[in-house]
Amino acid sequence: MKKIITVVGARPQFIKLAPVSKALRVHFKEVIVHTGQHYDYEMSKAFFDELGIPDPDYNLEVGSGPPCWQMGTMMMRMEEIVLAEKPDLVLVFGDTNSTAAASIVAAKHRIKLAHVEAGLREFDKTIPEETNKLITDILCDFYFCPTQTGVDILSSMGIHQHVYNVGDVMIDLLVEHKARIEGNHALLEGLGVSAGKYAFMTCHRAANTDVVENLKEILESLAHVRVPIVFPIHPRTRKVVEQAGLQHLLELPHIHLVQPMGYFDSQTLIHHAAFVITDSGGVTKEAYFHKVQGILLDTQTEWVETVREGWNLQCGPNKERIIEALSELGHPQAHSNCLGDGFASRHLTDILVKEL
Ligand code: UD1
Ligand code: UDP
Repeated sequence: MKKIITVVGARPQFIKLAPVSKALRVHFKEVIVHTGQHYDYEMSKAFFDELGIPDPDYNLEVGSGPPCWQMGTMMMRMEEIVLAEKPDLVLVFGDTNSTAAASIVAAKHRIKLAHVEAGLREFDKTIPEETNKLITDILCDFYFCPTQTGVDILSSMGIHQHVYNVGDVMIDLLVEHKARIEGNHALLEGLGVSAGKYAFMTCHRAANTDVVENLKEILESLAHVRVPIVFPIHPRTRKVVEQAGLQHLLELPHIHLVQPMGYFDSQTLIHHAAFVITDSGGVTKEAYFHKVQGILLDTQTEWVETVREGWNLQCGPNKERIIEALSELGHPQAHSNCLGDGFASRHLTDILVKEL
């Protein structure tokens, strides 16, 4: 049996790993490496427990720090594992520092590299994730794109070999667990909100937290939202709010500030929300899947189809634009299911069975 090392480190990657691991294990021996980029229980282990993901075979326990230190430490620790395990393939997800670090290790040791969520760009190298995506896609051997946009962007870079539009693996989980996600009305009751009458919010991107002015613009706009807002706050954002003294902007009666949530609770809340406010790539896609409109707090998105079809309104950290978008929310008609058929993990596994 061929051996695949899957590498994860941050919250969205545990979620993406769940369906992919299940599909890969039918045909391959999988070794899971957790870099330790995220480490709080509710940012990491909670997802392994909730989604039944096998425990990582290795945890590099790298933790937080400046990006080059973080990636360098990941690379040194990961190199030892690659030398000991001699895998046939390293498979990485998305665009975090863990993704890029693992890609470099695979390339240096001439191990084939597969990228789940390949080809996407925000065309702005000041975004930390953009450089991670560029590194990975330059070194990659198997490109598993979530959308046709990914295929087209790779094509424009002259990359045509082993490029596949398999769909988005996050949709696999949503399709699999649809009934459980939609049926949890007790969660809404517990939070004191009613279906269709509240907003779900997340915010953590570097551009919106490192630049305090941007975070201030975003948080000030919340006073103009006329429904309750459920806001599970990312640890990065919580720290900035405390350091910059912005707590008062969140101490409004309609803002329910809560700890980072589990996967299923988040999905239930997105599904029943009137709309979402987010800079999360994951939430952007999930809102589209659930046919819930989104106000996007980032200035660029990789999920351009969801904006084109009217589901997500691109605002950036701009109070006036966010307030304007609140009045533009409606009922978009177009929905092309552009994120795949819910079997992306099986599609990419089938390709690897044939091609690896
Ligand atoms: C990272 C990814 C981002 C992804 C996000 C998912 C990069 C460059 N960024 O951003 O693409 O959208 O994960 O959530 O890889 N922290 C904790 N506990 C944790 C994890 C983080 O307190 O378990 C705090 C630390 O103060 C840390 C900060 O959050 O310095 C940022 O963590 P980091 O992993 O560097 O970046 P994210 O913003 O989480
Ligand atoms: N999510 C979660 N709990 C939360 C906030 C988000 O489970 O408190 C889920 C969200 O629904 C999506 C994933 O985490 O499935 C997205 O992760 P994140 O926003 O951290 O990263 P991004 O997608 O922006 O890279």
